Amino acid sequence: MSSNNAQTQRLFFALWPDGALQSQLYRLGGTFYRDCGGKRVRTENLHLTLAFLGSIDAQTRECLKQQAEAIELPAFTLRFDRAGYWRRPRVVWLGAEETPPPLLALVRAINRAVTVCGLEAERRPFSTHLTLLRKARQGPQIAALEPIEWPVAEFAMVASKTLPTGAEYEVVARWPLSMADS
Ligand code: 2AM
Repeated sequence: MSSNNAQTQRLFFALWPDGALQSQLYRLGGTFYRDCGGKRVRTENLHLTLAFLGSIDAQTRECLKQQAEAIELPAFTLRFDRAGYWRRPRVVWLGAEETPPPLLALVRAINRAVTVCGLEAERRPFSTHLTLLRKARQGPQIAALEPIEWPVAEFAMVASKTLPTGAEYEVVARWPLSMADS
């Protein structure tokens, strides 16, 4: 099949934790689940969204990959030290009191790439959050928590499929962030 549709993928840019961190985050989600209910994001699906793109054709995907390849920004440490709840989407998330400037720079660079490739960038300001629970009935009782430090050394493009069993994500490309020379 060569229809456009067949080549279209639902894509987003994300920070993707390694398996050990995903397991740690999943366990933390479990402690909130008791209070908040809802659906826990599965271990292998836990991620931090940088920019959601929607349904993207192959040509635009290649443009985005080229643009992402050209991004040169430093690695950074993200410190999750708070949890919160958004009422409307009913998500419980992990957040950071301080968003590292290189993370903001990365989001800006991605939004520029998105625009260069003819898509509309997200207008809402970026809010650092990693979703742990969806369809939660209430927020966590404790907002502050034992901090989790995540050394972030790469970012990724991810394809999302909605299956009857839930969302399935596939990392389709990764790009390194540069380590400081010492
Ligand atoms: P969030 O849960 O971190 O808020 C992949 O679908 C990711 O893209 C989701 O985890 C969600 O991030 C984010 N996203 C943002 N806008 C979206 C939209 N309109 N539809 C689906 N996902 C969206």
